[in-house]
Amino acid sequence: MTPAIRDRLREATEVLKRAGVDTPTLDAELLLAHALGVARSWLLAHPEQHLTPEQEAAFRALLARRTAREPLAYITGQRAFYDIQLEVTPAVLTPRPETEELVERALTWLRERPRAVVVDVGTGSGAIALTVARHASQSRVYAIDISPQALDVARRNARRLGLTARVAFLLGDLLAPLPEPVDIILANLPYIPEGVRTDLMPEVAAFEPPEALFSGERGLDHIARLLAQAPAFLRPGGRILLEMGCDQADEVLALARQSFPRADRRVIQDLTGRDRFLAIALP
Ligand SMILES: C[S@@+](CC[C@H](N)C(=O)[O-])C[C@H]1O[C@@H](n2cnc3c(N)ncnc32)[C@H](O)[C@@H]1O
Repeated sequence: MTPAIRDRLREATEVLKRAGVDTPTLDAELLLAHALGVARSWLLAHPEQHLTPEQEAAFRALLARRTAREPLAYITGQRAFYDIQLEVTPAVLTPRPETEELVERALTWLRERPRAVVVDVGTGSGAIALTVARHASQSRVYAIDISPQALDVARRNARRLGLTARVAFLLGDLLAPLPEPVDIILANLPYIPEGVRTDLMPEVAAFEPPEALFSGERGLDHIARLLAQAPAFLRPGGRILLEMGCDQADEVLALARQSFPRADRRVIQDLTGRDRFLAIALP
C-alpha cells in the first residue's frame, strides 16, 4: 500500500533536504499538492489519506526534478507575486520577493499620479507591469523585453488577469521600442557579473535563462545603457526605480549622476537592509 500523506511528506522532505533544497518541507508540500491537484491546505487537513499508485508515480516524478534542483516554479508552472499568480516557464526569471518591494514603491508614487504612463523594462513574466497595471487602474503600461519567448509568457499572464487592454507589450532592446516618453521607468534588469556564474545556486545557474541574469563583467552593462537612454524617454517630474545588486550602489549612483546631474538620486534598502533599489526623481 502507498504511504499516508503525512508519512510521504516526511520522507520527501528528507530527500529534498539531502539534495540541498533550502525549504524542503514547503517544497514537498507544494509538489504533492501539485501532483494531486489540490491546495496545500487540503493536504494538511488530510494527513491520513493514502495516495493512489498514479498519484504516487506523479509525485515521484516531480520530486526527482526538484531533487535535481529545478526551481519549484518551473515544475509547477506558477509563482505567486504580490497579490497575483503568474505563469512562469524556463523562458522567464522566477519573480523574486525583493521585486515586490519595487512594485510597492511604484504604486505609492502612482497613487498621486493616477493617469501616469509607465514602462517596465525587461518585463520577463510581466511581474512588475501586471501588478502595477492591476493596482494603478488608470495608468497605461508598456512592458518591454528582448526575449520573444518571455513576452509570450507575459502576454498570457496579461490575458489571464484581464489586463491586455492596459498593457502594451513591446519587443526590443531596453527603451528603444518605446513610442512616447513616460512618467516612470521601472526595471529589474540582469545585474549579475559574468564572473560569479559558478557561485550561484543550481536553481539559478542551471535553469534560469542567462539573458535574464548576467550583465557583463561587473553586472552593470544593462543598467548603464538604460540610464544613458533614459533622459530622452522621461517626462518632466518623472521617476526611475531600478533594482540592482546589493554591492552595486556606488557604481550605480555614479552612472545615475552622469545621466541625471540635476535630479534627486538615492539608493534604497530592501526589507533585509541591503542596498537594492536606485530611485531618481526629476525636478
Ligand atoms: C532579471 S529578469 C527580470 C524579469 C522581471 N522583470 C522580474 O522582475 O521578474 C530581466 C529581464 O530582462 C530581459 N532583458 C535582458 N536584456 C534586455 C534588453 N537588452 N532589453 C530588454 N529586456 C532585456 C530578460 O529577457 C529578462 O526577462
